[in-house]
Amino acid sequence: MTTNVNQVHALETAALIKKAQETLVANDLGGYTVPTHGLYPFQWNWDSAITALGWKHFDEPRAWQEIEVLFDGQWDNGMVPHILFHQDSTTYFPGPDIWGSDKRVKSTSISQPPVVATVMKDMLDSADDKAFATEKVKSLFSSLVDYHLWWYKERDPLNTGLVVSYHPWESGMDNSPAWDEALNDVPCVDWEYERRDLGHVNSAQRPHKSEYDRFLFLVDFFKKHKFDSEIIFNECPYKVNDVGIISILHRGSKDILALGETLGIEDARLDVIAQRIALTESAINTLWCPDAEYFYCRNVLTDTLCKVRTSAGMLTVFAGLADEKQKDILNSKAKQWNEASQFCMASTHPEESRYEPQRYWRGPIWLHINWMIALGFEAEGFQETADKLRNDCRALVDLSGYYEYFNPETGEGCGGKDFSWTAAIALHWLL
Ligand code: DGY
Repeated sequence: MTTNVNQVHALETAALIKKAQETLVANDLGGYTVPTHGLYPFQWNWDSAITALGWKHFDEPRAWQEIEVLFDGQWDNGMVPHILFHQDSTTYFPGPDIWGSDKRVKSTSISQPPVVATVMKDMLDSADDKAFATEKVKSLFSSLVDYHLWWYKERDPLNTGLVVSYHPWESGMDNSPAWDEALNDVPCVDWEYERRDLGHVNSAQRPHKSEYDRFLFLVDFFKKHKFDSEIIFNECPYKVNDVGIISILHRGSKDILALGETLGIEDARLDVIAQRIALTESAINTLWCPDAEYFYCRNVLTDTLCKVRTSAGMLTVFAGLADEKQKDILNSKAKQWNEASQFCMASTHPEESRYEPQRYWRGPIWLHINWMIALGFEAEGFQETADKLRNDCRALVDLSGYYEYFNPETGEGCGGKDFSWTAAIALHWLL
């Protein structure tokens, strides 16, 4: 008996599904999933949300638990921190003592792109057990609204329509070249420290010390000011309108309104969310550069656009923030961008001088970002672009497995191995 190509593909897919599920189970620390052991031994905000998308394909209750445990670390002011330090670990730096927050669940004092609302909507829409999922959304809904209102009130107190980020770690795209100029204006810490990430991953795939020195200055700055939002808003030496956060927040806010409607939830705060959605829609074009015909981030302190093409600009399509003309332009740019490397979509355009194909957010491909970008293009009718992203991501996991990120030139897996959100996106989107 001969095995045909389709059968081989089905066998490979079955093996990948099994491996992806095993990866999540192995990274499960009891209610929350670490991104990968050693390198990231705690619960990360957007990692957990994306990871829940993977869990839902084989264990819906466990997927909802991931989100519940994430919200268990929510601050009284509504913020959901970027890392929750549920238990001690010596394999990561900087840990809870450096961050210095005194909350019940130890945490960092910044947040991360709020993709959790979009994930919750997806989990409800696709639930096998609708009654269970409905109950879960209802119980988490008020906290979710608090989280989005925190972004708007604390990070856009002047109602500009564009929230600010205080730290590159908040963007999740830590060493993106988009932050270079803004970060360069931040002083360096004046104390010595030992990085732990370099004990797990080749330094050529990680941020430089010059970036860590400034990352840590900002951590100290928040602690020194006792996390006082007014002081930090007025004095933080790093303030950026990150088009990635803005887009993910915007899409999430629209998903919150949709969830509220589906479940018949009456909550006056939803009107505030609707007003903020309108404000962002009226402000987004200030990030559009007519010369480059692209959405950039902005250094708020110097009021200059961060003129480097990163994939974050493509998230405006996912958010529904790009107008008809901009969508066409972005689709053409995506095609050209995708042709510029063997696999797509590189997190920094391969023709940018600061593009580095294996250094973390300066070029490598991240599957969860591609998933959001592809969802955006697909919803707008640009199926070919969405298919290209999906096919390339599938080729990457076929070739290299579930790495943290991938080299767009060679497809080589980089960063952490057996990575939760890559396995989750594989389960959710690719397999
Ligand atoms: C790290 O430590 O590299 C993380 O990306 C911070 O969130």
